[in-house]
Amino acid sequence: MNKDAFYIKGLGGEKSLEGELVVMGAKNSILPLLASTIVVRGNVSFANVPDIEDVHRMTEILNNLGATTSNLTGSELKVDTENVHKTQLDIELSKKMRASVILTGPMLSRFGEVKFPHPGGCVIGARPIDIFTEGFQKMGATFSEDETFYTFKVSGSKLKATNIFLKSPSVTATETFLIAAVGADGTTRIENAAMEPEIVDLAVFLRSCGATITGDGTPTITIVGGKDLVSNSTPYNVMPDRIEAGSFLILAAVTAKNCKISNIDPSHIRSVLELLTGSGVPIRVTENSVYIENNTEPSSSFKSFDIKTHEYPGFPTDIQAPAMIFLSQCSGESLVFETIFEGRLNYTEDLVRMGADIKMWDTHRATIKGPTHLKGRELEGPDIRAGLAYVIAGLVANGDSIIRNAYFIDRGYMSIEKRLSALGADIKRKSYSI
Ligand code: EPZ
Repeated sequence: MNKDAFYIKGLGGEKSLEGELVVMGAKNSILPLLASTIVVRGNVSFANVPDIEDVHRMTEILNNLGATTSNLTGSELKVDTENVHKTQLDIELSKKMRASVILTGPMLSRFGEVKFPHPGGCVIGARPIDIFTEGFQKMGATFSEDETFYTFKVSGSKLKATNIFLKSPSVTATETFLIAAVGADGTTRIENAAMEPEIVDLAVFLRSCGATITGDGTPTITIVGGKDLVSNSTPYNVMPDRIEAGSFLILAAVTAKNCKISNIDPSHIRSVLELLTGSGVPIRVTENSVYIENNTEPSSSFKSFDIKTHEYPGFPTDIQAPAMIFLSQCSGESLVFETIFEGRLNYTEDLVRMGADIKMWDTHRATIKGPTHLKGRELEGPDIRAGLAYVIAGLVANGDSIIRNAYFIDRGYMSIEKRLSALGADIKRKSYSI
């Protein structure tokens, strides 16, 4: 079997890259949007869809259920779920990404039953589903499990509209119940809901199909369900990927003299902009782009800062790993407190092998001292975001790096080697047999 790796020539701290990085549509928005098409009648089309592995896995899951999906041509994707007939999610495909769990909402709402394996995805923590089981039981569903599947069933035909308080503001649980509630007769309130922009994007799309939703983007979302949703047939434009935007900003800060990061919503990455600007990175913000200009000072001139990851609008956990590379080049000591996932600092072991000065105090806290010179290494990306962090580390390092498991990076970043090569980076994709 063949896998891909990225071969990177380090810049040794030089900031020689120049050019533009165009940010794609948001992975964590298109995935719930695609799941929600199960409860929308008619042909749905999405624009600004990123050509990434997770989008292909989600369309494969939908096709396996009986939906018809178009090829992803020029970032436009069409979906028609009229002929969806199965209520069991494909095991292999669902295990490839956590976002498959979002399908439980629309499937339960439309068919009254869904069987699915424990959702897979990144090894960044236990990824329990107790918030889902508690919420669906409140909506009248029963939960059972055997060695392969979890099953939710709702007696009668419809989920019950009710009040659901999330014990933690889970992003995919909020999205799942938002979609489920649209099909439940009456008013459902989701309290302690996540406020991420991707949830607002989903609500805007569902409203465009006739749903009655208020409060998205706040801790309390109210849904008046029971109406059929119908596609309004105009392509829905997926919001720009704020995680890609923030990660590219960090990449440019430590590798580029001049870089324009375009097709973004700067209001989605205020926490990242605040910290980098305060650190001394020369940033200029316009309506839908961010520029790093005349970035000629060495990164050691940037001041270090502490990071505490937090639900939106706090510092995104998905940008914690790229930020760690930035902090390895700043002057000073920083505390990185990963509050969301208990397994999301494990990647730092490989950064220490590259020469970073990082001490893990427990599964949630690490301190990092900079500046340090990183040495190129052979690395294996453990998840999507740490994989991109290794690409940034490989670019900053002295010498060559090989980053195996390119699939993880391809899950979340489209054609990363082509986009970085256009800035002047020496990064190549090569396959290797295992
Ligand atoms: C979403 O994951 C994102 N994925 C993640 O991005 C992101 O890191 C995360 O939100 C936090 O922002 C998608 O949107 C597809 P959570 P999600 O449920 O929803 C606990 C990436 O790289 N929890 O908000 O799975 C959980 O353990 C991915 O793009 C329960 O306890 O994250 C965690 O500690 C990685 N019980 C906390 O909630 C549950 O039933 C927040 O997780 C569910 C979650």
